[in-house]
Amino acid sequence: MKTETTTSFETKFEEEVYEGLTASPKFLSSKYFYDKIGDKLFQDIMALPEYYLTNCELEVISNHTAAIAEIFKGRDGFDLIELGAGDGKKTKVLLKYLDEHQYNFNFLPIDISQNVLDQLKSSLREELPNVNVYPQQGTYFEVLERLSEYNERKKVIMVLGSNIGNLLHPQAIHFLKDIQRSMVEGDLLFMGFDQKKNPQTILDAYNDKTGVTAAFNKNILTRINNELDADFNLDDFLHWEVYDPETGTAKSFLVSKKTQKVSIKKLELEVNFQEWETIHTEISQKYNDEIVNWLAEESGLKIDGQFTDSKNYYKNYIFTKS
Ligand SMILES: C[S@@+](CC[C@H](N)C(=O)[O-])C[C@H]1O[C@@H](n2cnc3c(N)ncnc32)[C@H](O)[C@@H]1O
Repeated sequence: MKTETTTSFETKFEEEVYEGLTASPKFLSSKYFYDKIGDKLFQDIMALPEYYLTNCELEVISNHTAAIAEIFKGRDGFDLIELGAGDGKKTKVLLKYLDEHQYNFNFLPIDISQNVLDQLKSSLREELPNVNVYPQQGTYFEVLERLSEYNERKKVIMVLGSNIGNLLHPQAIHFLKDIQRSMVEGDLLFMGFDQKKNPQTILDAYNDKTGVTAAFNKNILTRINNELDADFNLDDFLHWEVYDPETGTAKSFLVSKKTQKVSIKKLELEVNFQEWETIHTEISQKYNDEIVNWLAEESGLKIDGQFTDSKNYYKNYIFTKS
């Protein structure tokens, strides 16, 4: 059996799967949902009526495009760096406006999924051929280390889709601090935060009736099967969502329906599950102004402006260094 102290893992994925499935309680990181299948499932989620986040943020960006573009504009142009860009559905509204109004900018989408970056680059070549696109594959933290080198002109860092909500507050502060350190005076952070609202609305968004979210959650097991030669039977696990309206934390789990043993050959690991044992896979944190303000203060940032949708479900904030 591999052990963390004696074995060097070939990839971060191997290491984190090992760590999460030998822990108690078990966990896996939601960043591993995204491969070719996961990217497609997430695009399907964005089209679900229950998943209000996409339409709310689309409304914010569509209704305030000109104002956002003016805030982004720099004296010598700007570099627009998007962390966790995905398929760029909402970003394209902004890019189209910036292109049509001849703003001087480069677009640098960053994502852990090479597949989604390839799709984004080729769709932008078709739809907005004049926009300069420089994708970079990597995790937020890896790429942020390199970002401080981008200092020749104004930097606008953008994080949409409430991606920050996948991080618990201490990790979110770490993330925001890294962003803050990569910024110089005049740079901006434009970030979307899903807001606290009727708990049922939130629960439904992560527990759709058609089962797309369940398939998305289980895709992490499919990846372990395919990439680490494992034998998870997806039907033996249940997608389970909870939302705590006090903390604003939604949590996704995979729950083992029976006592079972799963073999992960590439890790030389046998994982035992008791009946109803859980694997925690994702958090989707919800916010209000007070929490966002606190996160900003803890990270050396300040809120310089905000935009919201007509239902006040979702907010995009502008941050600068404090
Ligand atoms: C919830 S989707 C949102 C996509 C896009 N921002 C939007 O609003 O439509 C999260 C995206 O971030 C990427 N991602 C998740 N965790 C990441 C990480 N730790 N580092 C880099 N990218 C990550 C995923 O591959 C995915 O494309």
